Amino acid sequence: MTQTESARHVTGKVVRRELRAAPVTVDLAGRAVQTWAYDGVVPGKELRATAGDLLRIRLTNDLPEETTVHWHGLALRNDMDGVPGLTQDPVRAGASFDYAFVVPDPGTYWFHPHVGVQLDRGLQAPLIVEDPREPMSYDEEVVLMLDDWTDGWGDSPDVILERMARKGMVMGGMSMEGMDHGGMSMGDSMPSDEQPLGADTGDVVYPAHLINGRTSEDPFLINTTPGRRIRLRIINAGGDTAYRFAVGGHRLSVTHTDGFPVDPVEVDTLIVGMGERYDVVITTGDGAFPVVAVPEGKEAAPGFALLRTASGAAPAPDARPAELAGQLLSYADLRAVESAALEPREPDREFELGLQMVDGGRQWFINGAAFGDHEPLEIQSGERIRLVMRNESMMFHPMHVHGHTFALAGQNGRGIRKDTINVLPMESLSVDLQADNPGQWLIHCHNIYHGELGMMTVLSYVA
Ligand code: C2O
Ligand code: CU
Repeated sequence: MTQTESARHVTGKVVRRELRAAPVTVDLAGRAVQTWAYDGVVPGKELRATAGDLLRIRLTNDLPEETTVHWHGLALRNDMDGVPGLTQDPVRAGASFDYAFVVPDPGTYWFHPHVGVQLDRGLQAPLIVEDPREPMSYDEEVVLMLDDWTDGWGDSPDVILERMARKGMVMGGMSMEGMDHGGMSMGDSMPSDEQPLGADTGDVVYPAHLINGRTSEDPFLINTTPGRRIRLRIINAGGDTAYRFAVGGHRLSVTHTDGFPVDPVEVDTLIVGMGERYDVVITTGDGAFPVVAVPEGKEAAPGFALLRTASGAAPAPDARPAELAGQLLSYADLRAVESAALEPREPDREFELGLQMVDGGRQWFINGAAFGDHEPLEIQSGERIRLVMRNESMMFHPMHVHGHTFALAGQNGRGIRKDTINVLPMESLSVDLQADNPGQWLIHCHNIYHGELGMMTVLSYVA
């Protein structure tokens, strides 16, 4: 049995939670901001369980429109996956829905709606699954949720989506149509050392970038003592922003990608795409240090939190620690730990997914079709599937597969396990997955605007 199969039975306790999605006014450093959130806070209260537990969560929808909850990254039963029209009926305004499922694998996950661009409001929360046999030793853990914020401050996500559908890519508020393309060569957009995700990483201008729902003027505080090993669980809950993450004065020992363990690798900084997670361990120094999430490729004030282990002056909220320009993590640096590796096997079936910009970004396609016109990827239970994601566009796409944790192909059977992976401009990237969780599973770009403008398809199989 694979790790996932063995864990689909209840072996632990029952975790019950009420979850209420509703409009709310939140305080962002003194600014009253109207948004939608879970239980009145942004991000929503962390949900914590142990692998093997049964989660029973009653969602009450007090939003003015329908919603669902998607449990991002979990290999759960298909009818609890939260995709309206595919795995469940949407939960109508005023109605409720009971989610019940076993959490199979330990790790850092999160949840959000799967309706429209609701996740680019405040509807997002961490889901932490503890390992009953945690092999790692650390003194403390801290969840850091990174988010790009516009709702109730700048334009609403719905207004932004509507504008993109009309005008296409909007860079700095200006439509691509209005731009002079004369001076822009292909090379400007290709990934480089300075611009690892390419020149255009996202088209939405956000008034603020938050860490754990806090702005840099009123930062989230990690208060501890020197010499502590702290496990940071980093989640990018953004709609259209990748973040370059660093902790001033500290190296990051990377231990998990999207919840699954890797042989630890030390770096200075890493880039987290939308929907991706990393666990890293730091050993705290003596003083006050900036924890920064710089919007990759965007001109904007970074997300900022404060790590304090001693008294003394706090770093400025616009601090740019040297680590940001230090050794940057790449997928190629990482290997899954042996026990988490996907057992090597030749693929039974291979699909190419062409990722395409259409009509100047008014639409985004997979293999020539928008979601709705897509042809599902039909497979058989038990097969080994290879997805070759071929990015034919000049933007990166954080591609996410529901219900499975794939392995990056071609790393000697030790490809990192992930459910969301950044496919760079014009890059081809292959991932393998084991078809061991039958159902209708979305595959989509986790740039919420690309996804909504068509960049989604379905992996389909029955038991
Ligand atoms: Cu994070 Cu289809 O979702
Ligand atoms: Cu995309």
